[in-house]
Amino acid sequence: MVGSGGREHALASVLGRDAEVVVVPGNPGIPNSLDAAPEDVEADLFVIGPEAPLVDGLADRLRAAGRLVFGPGADGARLEGSKAWMKDLLADAGVPTARHGSFTEPAPALEFLDTMAPPFVVKTDGLAAGKGVVVTDSLTEARNAVEDYLSGAAFGDAGRRLVVEEGLIGEELSVLAICAGTEAVLLPAAQDFKRALDGDEGPNTGGMGAFSPVPGVGHELMATVKDDFVLPTLEALAARGIDYRGVLYAGLMITADGPKLLEYNVRFGDPETQVVLPRLTSSLTEMLAAAAAGRLGDEPTSSDDAMVTVVCASEGYPASPRTGDRIEGLDAARSVEGVELFLAGVAGEPGDLRTAGGRVLNVTGRGRNLADARERAMRAVGEIGWPGMQHRNDIALAASSADGA
Ligand code: AMP
Ligand code: GLY
Repeated sequence: MVGSGGREHALASVLGRDAEVVVVPGNPGIPNSLDAAPEDVEADLFVIGPEAPLVDGLADRLRAAGRLVFGPGADGARLEGSKAWMKDLLADAGVPTARHGSFTEPAPALEFLDTMAPPFVVKTDGLAAGKGVVVTDSLTEARNAVEDYLSGAAFGDAGRRLVVEEGLIGEELSVLAICAGTEAVLLPAAQDFKRALDGDEGPNTGGMGAFSPVPGVGHELMATVKDDFVLPTLEALAARGIDYRGVLYAGLMITADGPKLLEYNVRFGDPETQVVLPRLTSSLTEMLAAAAAGRLGDEPTSSDDAMVTVVCASEGYPASPRTGDRIEGLDAARSVEGVELFLAGVAGEPGDLRTAGGRVLNVTGRGRNLADARERAMRAVGEIGWPGMQHRNDIALAASSADGA
């Protein structure tokens, strides 16, 4: 397992049910972490967690060395590495998405922006750790973002090409598809909470919490996601000579006109992974190994249990996280029934962890329904602390009442 965050901790934990797992580089909160280069590790299967090494061609290098790898090559990873390329591919594939334009110069970008209605959306073309998106009702704020991105002031080179797009309104849904060439199987849907503060206020983050299953998302919607989004995308990739073996993460907005694609990621979602993968009752290891070899096995099966994860983040996240604080209460949190912790931005020793990043850890509760899972997660969050720790209090709150406690 390549990576060092909460997603990788969760993946390693589920792979560990039937495999011996080493996490490179991992972190001091993830068992079996090893500070080594992936190329230097002997393994039967490599699973690559984050987008940056995928975009950078790590899967290609490992495959060239004869390894079995779950994760797309640099060609397929452009789906996440360039939003403009992704949008062109969606047009070829006929996948529903927001109307958009892509720009490298301010004048035409601002002109296009003036033709849009609020909410205004401005995104970096390149990778920006989930933070390169401004969604705002203020035209001035959107115009300022265009200027700051294109000048390089906001995100360096990642912002020198940008996408301006139509703001979509609705509920968001995250669906992870395990893909092998032009075939795919879907994992249960999850919902992520992107904004930093309760009530979806504050800036966009990498994700402050998630839950699965999502009430109201049934077979029909999942069939639409597979048939109208995932499969046409894999066909369009194949038409470009790309054999995609990895996870395709569809970030969807369920609008009044039906689902539309917000983004594709070429990796598992973080923190969606923490609530989707532990629910699997079939073997994750076998599924990923089969996809890596270019074929898919049986449809995965999942438990009816619900899972809720709450991210505990450092003060100042996402803009400028404060780090170096001692984390208290982990053992007490772990002793809450049904709770598992997935460690992310931590440093130090396993028994004496300190904060070392924005999203520090995930408190994940499992229960017979969302209310139960949420109650357990929140009880465990209450045991954890460090100066300035922040978390949302409303993860899965609205959905819990819909889910019939
Ligand atoms: P992205 O990295 O493209 O997924 O954008 C991050 C987040 O910004 C999404 O999860 C949405 O919450 C929001 N967002 C992105 N694009 C749009 C859009 N066209 N309309 C409304 N919200 C959006
Ligand atoms: N949770 C959103 C993402 O992984 O991009």
